[in-house]
Amino acid sequence: MLVLENPIDAQTELSQLSQSELIVLVPTMGCLHEGHLQLVERAKQLGSRVVVSIFVNPLQFGPNEDFDRYPRTFHEDKTKLETAGVDFLFHPTAADLYPNGFSCSIEVGSLANRLCGHFRPGHFNGVATVCMKLFEITRAQVAVFGEKDFQQLQVIRNVVRDFNLPLAIVGHPTVRDTDGLALSSRNRFLSAQDREIAKRIPQTLFSVRKQSLENPDLTISQLLSEARAALAPLEIQYLEITDGPNMKTALPTSQVRHLEVPRIFLAVKLGNTRLIDNIALKEEAE
Ligand code: PAF
Repeated sequence: MLVLENPIDAQTELSQLSQSELIVLVPTMGCLHEGHLQLVERAKQLGSRVVVSIFVNPLQFGPNEDFDRYPRTFHEDKTKLETAGVDFLFHPTAADLYPNGFSCSIEVGSLANRLCGHFRPGHFNGVATVCMKLFEITRAQVAVFGEKDFQQLQVIRNVVRDFNLPLAIVGHPTVRDTDGLALSSRNRFLSAQDREIAKRIPQTLFSVRKQSLENPDLTISQLLSEARAALAPLEIQYLEITDGPNMKTALPTSQVRHLEVPRIFLAVKLGNTRLIDNIALKEEAE
């Protein structure tokens, strides 16, 4: 595995690959877990060369968020990627990606202001900007993103569509721990007691899906109020059922069976740790 430390080295090295190679990018912020490794496996199936980027992107963190405490485990990550058979690891510094005078950014539009975006102003603009840079630097033909960050995946799909970027975006299903909790680099901040409480997140989401299939007359509002009760004492930032690729909020009086691509989304705070999750509400859509 070749480690590329800055954009120039990455561009030089990757542009020397034969035209017949298909480059697949897996963008990450490091602190890699099984979920990331599954993205790598998917990338290996999709193309002939896999590039993983590790960069904790300051642009996507707000002033009171966890940029400083975000876990950085570069040496362990590198070993995992070597073992997984990754070809290139791109690991730039913030000064390399955002040199003095850097002033452009991508404005994502209304999807960026809802759900996570409402609680993290500017977050998706920061994600879109760094992804645009990563796409340009690596010239990947495919990029793989996890569905745990489903809103991020949709934002990136919109950016690729709106800017006619020559790459395909592939979403990969969320990977869960044995207790159902979606794998996340932030799970390491949870104590054993937090972890017990956090289990309610997947339990509640899957119970909403079960209920909506077993009692199709239940309204969105009824499903969500039961879910809210089941999540206590977690501090809920949002809990919503949406429909369609632009994740429109479903009407409280409608039923899941009348939605085309229904999904339930939530964000909760457990102490200082923010956790998000989502699942499809129609079995065939998951
Ligand atoms: O999902 C992440 O880890 C980050 O948001 C990403 C896509 C690597 C951009 O910094």
